Amino acid sequence: MLVSRLFPLATLLALPISSAFYLPGTAPRDYLEGEKIDVFVNTLTPMLNSKLHSLISYDYYDDRFGFCRPFNGIEKQPESLGSILFGDRILNSPYELNMLKNETCKLLCQSSITKEQSIFINERIKEDYGLNFLIDGLPSSEMKRDSKTQEIFLDAQGFNLGDDESIPDKPALNNHYDIYIQYHEKDTYSYISTPKSKKQYRVVGVLVYPRTVNSMISGSNSPDCFSTQPLYLSEATNNEFYYTYSISYIKSDITWGLRWDAYLHVFDPKIHWFSLINSLVIVGFLTFMVMMILYRTISKDIYRYNQIDLSEDVQEDYGWKLIHGEIFRLPQRPMLLSVMVGNGLHLIIMLIVTLLFALFGFLSPSNRGSLATVLLICWTLFGCVSGYTSSRTYSTLGGDQWKSNLILTTVLFPIVVFSVIGLLNLFLIFASASGAVPFGTILAILLLWFLISAPLSIAGYFYGLKHGSFENPLKTSSIPRQIPPKPWYLNQWISAILGGILPFGAAFVELYFVLSSLFGNRAYYAFGFLFLTFLIVVITTATTTILFIYFTLCAEEYRWHWRSFLIGGGSAFWLFTYGIWYWVSRLSLDSFTSVVLYFGYLFLFSLLDFLIGGSIGYIATYFAIRRLYSSIRVD
Ligand SMILES: *[C@@H]1O[C@H](CO)[C@@H](O)[C@H](O)[C@H]1NC(C)=O
Repeated sequence: MLVSRLFPLATLLALPISSAFYLPGTAPRDYLEGEKIDVFVNTLTPMLNSKLHSLISYDYYDDRFGFCRPFNGIEKQPESLGSILFGDRILNSPYELNMLKNETCKLLCQSSITKEQSIFINERIKEDYGLNFLIDGLPSSEMKRDSKTQEIFLDAQGFNLGDDESIPDKPALNNHYDIYIQYHEKDTYSYISTPKSKKQYRVVGVLVYPRTVNSMISGSNSPDCFSTQPLYLSEATNNEFYYTYSISYIKSDITWGLRWDAYLHVFDPKIHWFSLINSLVIVGFLTFMVMMILYRTISKDIYRYNQIDLSEDVQEDYGWKLIHGEIFRLPQRPMLLSVMVGNGLHLIIMLIVTLLFALFGFLSPSNRGSLATVLLICWTLFGCVSGYTSSRTYSTLGGDQWKSNLILTTVLFPIVVFSVIGLLNLFLIFASASGAVPFGTILAILLLWFLISAPLSIAGYFYGLKHGSFENPLKTSSIPRQIPPKPWYLNQWISAILGGILPFGAAFVELYFVLSSLFGNRAYYAFGFLFLTFLIVVITTATTTILFIYFTLCAEEYRWHWRSFLIGGGSAFWLFTYGIWYWVSRLSLDSFTSVVLYFGYLFLFSLLDFLIGGSIGYIATYFAIRRLYSSIRVD
């Protein structure tokens, strides 16, 4: 079954998935012989070969490239919000493909390129830019062999704009494309044999191999695609050359339902498993530790404590029990803390629901940008979570300015995120790259937020107000206790950095794959692994934070509210550090704009991670402490 191969864990978890289930817009298209097949073009994106040189994408019909244009004008193709956000700009093209009609050396157009354009194109060839075609919804790809498993797969990160490697520092433009369409003859289930003209065919694979060929021959006005001379664009004079293509239709046994299989190749499934098992061991160990502390040691302690309490001698008190009168002392800045906890939990719910959707196979790769679309929709719809959580946290922390809290909960986080993205957008517009989000899309997202998410958050807030604060099981003493000096590792910043290591370590192999597919322009689909990794990270964050706070309390430091948030969010520090390492070792970004983009996104990712981890840490610690101290008997 298709899905079981795509999501190895789906079968493991015995999820009811049927590969016969198609989402709207993904139903198969049947072609008769000779029927026209549309070729759409997407943006030009940098390819991740050994290193990535840029993060900027360009519109296909950017004037500076001078590609052949369709005769009837350029038409935008409808796209989902997520697809636009992820940088797709899908347009029509002048290529003429007809089912089963092979063509050799067909002329697309004659192009003339100025010196300035040549300089621009040669720069992009050196940066390893790739072209992306979409034929019948399938991305153009190259057939490759996995060097480890020897499996053949289709690599859909685009095909080279030019050739930079044959002769170093002499970029050649690929102006001829050999297009191979794999087709499958549709079964008709009919006892009467179908006449050939009625037979239907489906596209099940698209391969494009680009070549550079100086096909212009003086004295002839038809191109010669088999010339062995490469085409170098001169940066000193204008250039005249042909764009040409050949098409071959190849019969294939792959059925339409399985056509994405070859694209969704898992590089190194062993590493995914290895990292997962590794993290599971860590989680098992941590959970065991917390269990030990919370149940065995503590129940013993509580027993002893209550015994001591009954006797006259109370001097033997030590550790966390000593500070029972301080434990629920209100922290500083409850406003900011509750806003962050509310928004963090909002993000967690959004991620869990999106990952569940992905796990159940609803985010098919043929629905471009569906991941981003679902994320956006979940974020909008779960706005109520942030309001509710923030309201209850705030009143538990003794805050009384609920109106400011309501406003900050609703607007603070979106404003930060929108401003960072807006700033990055300005940079992109300045570099006239197509990754800039169009005005209409920004407006749509603002409307989604303003009309749905914000009202839901406000509604959640009022619902939270109705439920009020959590009752603290212990009274706070009137005079704050002196805090004795504590070991260096219990300093709140140091413990945040130390505490972040384990959750980050549990996620980091999967993170590497997510980053590679994000930058390599490949669809990420190992959602089974991602979901389990996410669960492991949640458990690791919760248990690590509880352990750290327990040790802190044993050192008689009772200011745990902010600490628990910082320790939980500590993995953001490692994420940012890892991002810097990735930049140094795997990327060689040439332009300033790319560097700004990279760090802008890295900052956003780290911020999200901080909020998510922090609120897990805070919420887990809060309930652990309640559990811990509610068993103490105080007279
Ligand atoms: C088209 O080209 C392919 C590959 O060269 C070949 O296998 C196939 O038979 C050709 N089809 C026709 C109709 O000529």
